[in-house]
Amino acid sequence: MFEHLDAYPGDPILGLNEAFQKDPRADKVNLSIGIYFDDAGRIPVLASVRKAEALMLERAQPKPYLPIEGDAACRAQVQALLFGAGHRAVAEGRVATIQAVGSSGGLKVGAEFLKRWFPRAEVWVSDPTWDNHRAMFQGAGLATHSYPYYAPDGLRFDAMLATLAQLPAGSVVLLHACCHNPTGVDLSREQWQRLIPLLEERRLLPYLDLAYQGFGDGLDADAHAVRMLADAGLSFFVANSFSKSMSVYGERCGALSVVCPSAAEAERVLGQLKATIRANYSSPPIHAGGIVAAVLGEPALRAQWEAELAAMRGRIAAMRRALHDALVARLPQRDFGYLLSQRGMFSYTGLAPEQVDALRERHGVYLVRSGRICVAGLNTGNVVRAADAIAKVMAG
Ligand code: LMR
Repeated sequence: MFEHLDAYPGDPILGLNEAFQKDPRADKVNLSIGIYFDDAGRIPVLASVRKAEALMLERAQPKPYLPIEGDAACRAQVQALLFGAGHRAVAEGRVATIQAVGSSGGLKVGAEFLKRWFPRAEVWVSDPTWDNHRAMFQGAGLATHSYPYYAPDGLRFDAMLATLAQLPAGSVVLLHACCHNPTGVDLSREQWQRLIPLLEERRLLPYLDLAYQGFGDGLDADAHAVRMLADAGLSFFVANSFSKSMSVYGERCGALSVVCPSAAEAERVLGQLKATIRANYSSPPIHAGGIVAAVLGEPALRAQWEAELAAMRGRIAAMRRALHDALVARLPQRDFGYLLSQRGMFSYTGLAPEQVDALRERHGVYLVRSGRICVAGLNTGNVVRAADAIAKVMAG
């Protein structure tokens, strides 16, 4: 019956994480998956989230199906977090937001919506991009292509603009709003200011992926691309995630928002997003929506969460510095400045796939074969070992 099926080769990121779990070596180091670990190497349970869950338990509310579009309080909080309190686009009812099953779920609902209503649209993703982006859009039946983004010497902004300037109107351009995955190299505000008029003139459809809000420079600072696009009056999509920022990976907390020219269009868009969801998984999880609504909506929890997020951001920055200093001490002739300038969880090391394999096989240090490391997997107990291994492999 199923003999004709291809064997699944495994996911390049999740498969690696599984291999790490099975590795018996006690001193193994996991820099593969984009998960924030604390200094003890554990996934933190944030006090703000724990209190939100306690509140939910205490209220002992029934668990009906959520509306197709999700928890109303969660959706309103998402809008305020992305666009800033009282933003014109939100106040005018021009933003259609659905609670999604993580930002992946949001990306996928948006992809299916695009296939239904913009069937000829093709999707352009950065080269490189998160491994799953192409598969998601292709899975929805949309062709994907890539625009230049990064070369070993840094951002390829002019080449990116030159490519985007040639695209047919209606092309979808997937952009990382902050903390680019996998490179950690973001556009500056000035570069967004140059990109946005081009997107507008060419009538391209921006699709932002915002999975790391708060891990770069702060909640508001990391939303600047969303706000600049909204301020410029563009129509666009933004999928956002709380997986990392609230450390709630398996709860699948995320959303998709579509900014529209008018409230009437936003209502139609919301309706069609609902139709897409209903035909897929019917409605999102109630616990996920409740966590987001409570953490963002209860002032004391919100303040605590912001402090916890700032602490995670600070620890990542400290690990960037520690790895940088340890590598410079071992290989003084090399430039490791990229570790300090790249933003968010990830850094692109430039390690070749064979070097990545050697790190894993000989030293038990796991990273993605593109050479991406998750800096948030480093801690005071493993950073020296990781630096030793990386330096040895780099030195050949
Ligand atoms: C990553 O890039 O490692 C994360 O976003 C986790 C994932 O699902 O790939």
